[in-house]
Amino acid sequence: MTFDPQFRQFLEETRSRVEQALEQRLPAADIPPIRLHEAMRYAALGNGKRLRPVLTHAAGQLLGAPASRLDAPACAAELIHAYSLVHDDLPAMDDDDLRRGRATCHRAFDEATAVLAGDALQSLAFRLLARDPALDIPAEQRLRMVGELAHAAGSRGMAGGQALDIEAVGRELTLAELENMHIHKTGALIRASVRLGALCADGASEEALRALDHYAKCIGLAFQIRDDILDVEGETEAIGKTSGKDAADNKPTYPALVGLDEARETTHRLLEDALASLAMFGNDATHLRELALYVIDRKR
Ligand code: IPE
Ligand code: IPE
Ligand code: MG
Ligand code: MG
Ligand code: MG
Repeated sequence: MTFDPQFRQFLEETRSRVEQALEQRLPAADIPPIRLHEAMRYAALGNGKRLRPVLTHAAGQLLGAPASRLDAPACAAELIHAYSLVHDDLPAMDDDDLRRGRATCHRAFDEATAVLAGDALQSLAFRLLARDPALDIPAEQRLRMVGELAHAAGSRGMAGGQALDIEAVGRELTLAELENMHIHKTGALIRASVRLGALCADGASEEALRALDHYAKCIGLAFQIRDDILDVEGETEAIGKTSGKDAADNKPTYPALVGLDEARETTHRLLEDALASLAMFGNDATHLRELALYVIDRKR
């Protein structure tokens, strides 16, 4: 799939902007506790796709928010994501050795440090929403963002979805149960990433917020289905994670339940649904459209 050249440029520029914003906001590795700060930087600054912060920027800019205001919420979304990956890889959860093409955090450091790095990345995310000076919005609006991200990360969002995932190992789920797990463990944070961006705009209409939320719900589910597909058909080298791990661990996944073809068709249906919800924005939503395509066609 070829992307619009302007979108390519947006993606590259926003990724490096996010990289820099994270770099500035993470504690320096020479400040004690050094090992913890090294682990936090290792987990957050690796070769990630930065989809969530890019979505925050794309949604915010669509509604007219300045890029400088979007840096802190974009970082907050990515930090929650980085924390979720560190904990997801722990021996008590998925027990993975490879992440983003290199050793997982607990392998590169140790389990206790990885647990704490995850904890501290999560706290940093909320500190940014509470006090980052670049987030020039009224306190009430910050509070709303804190609430949104907390809900998305917590027991009725990502952490809850991860609990469903752990309970589901070795069990046969119904399609509705599987989707519910995916919507929570992965969809909730993607949805919040879009929402945080939209909430940075002055006076976004309820109609626009609803349309973006529907878009985000669709691509959030599609993202995890694509992740499940890549675990089956991606090469370890390309995906930067051990391929075939879901089947080896008896994880319920979309392809395991409905087969690869139906899984792929579902991502295409979700793409159509996501694109339809952007209609009201016309050409202004090009980046979000391209991001939806990217979600279902990505190779890693
Ligand atoms: C992996 O997320 C975990 C899931 C929620 C499927 P990403 O595929 O976005 O991981 P990075 O950030 O690019 O490494
Ligand atoms: C991860 O799902 C969801 C998270 C909340 C981290 P997976 O366990 O499928 O993610 P990968 O494949 O390890 O990246
Ligand atoms: Mg997992
Ligand atoms: Mg995993
Ligand atoms: Mg996976």
